[in-house]
Amino acid sequence: GTPLSTSKQQVTLTIDGMQINVPEGTSIMRAAMEMGTQIPKLCATDSLQSFGSCRLCLVEIEGRNGTPASCTTPVAPGMVVHTQTERLARLRKGVMELYISDHPLDCLTCSANGDCELQDMAGAVGLREVRYGMEGSNHFAKGSPHVLPKDESNPYFTYDPAKCIVCSRCVRACEEVQGTFALTIAGRGFDSRVSPGMSEPFLQSECVSCGACVQACPTATLNEKSVIAIGAPEHSVVTTCAYCGVGCSFKAE
Ligand code: FES
Repeated sequence: GTPLSTSKQQVTLTIDGMQINVPEGTSIMRAAMEMGTQIPKLCATDSLQSFGSCRLCLVEIEGRNGTPASCTTPVAPGMVVHTQTERLARLRKGVMELYISDHPLDCLTCSANGDCELQDMAGAVGLREVRYGMEGSNHFAKGSPHVLPKDESNPYFTYDPAKCIVCSRCVRACEEVQGTFALTIAGRGFDSRVSPGMSEPFLQSECVSCGACVQACPTATLNEKSVIAIGAPEHSVVTTCAYCGVGCSFKAE
């Protein structure tokens, strides 16, 4: 979801026929989560500020045109929201289809297989086939992020631009969790991609190897080298780093 607002002011709204009270400033996505409804998402997380780029979390609001993103739309008193309609199901499937049509189809050999949010969301929206092929598209054109080589310069993780869905979770984690501004989104449209600073290798960038970006990545774009070498761990727990008073959470495996 998105972070829960800390406002003392409560707002009452209706989501899928159920009334709910949440703090003012809460997103519709988070309000739905509070009542147990998971809206499909790729770019939103529980802790990072919402960005609204993946367009998977669309909802319908009575009295409003269009289908706004639930992660960036705050609740309002008396709002009546629908998160599960045929139209939304069709739109979400269409969005996922475009993502998958532009993604390497190597799931079976990918180190994130079984732990990939793109894979999970394709299943969640019921995507069974993709009508658009990569042949004929500019997927592999010169300069496309999909043909850029993997960046293996960092000793702890790799960066594979071909698997990036440009959700910016890594960019936001770098800024919001670590307070570093090592990552940026370079290029526009089809050619947009995550890039360290001035497109230098990770090792020569401002990156301090904290791993926040790797944890935030929903695919195998940013991937721990140990996971690639020995596979994903069987168990993991989220704990708090003991080295300073900041209170950063990290995954221990
Ligand atoms: Fe809302 Fe991506 S989760 S736009």
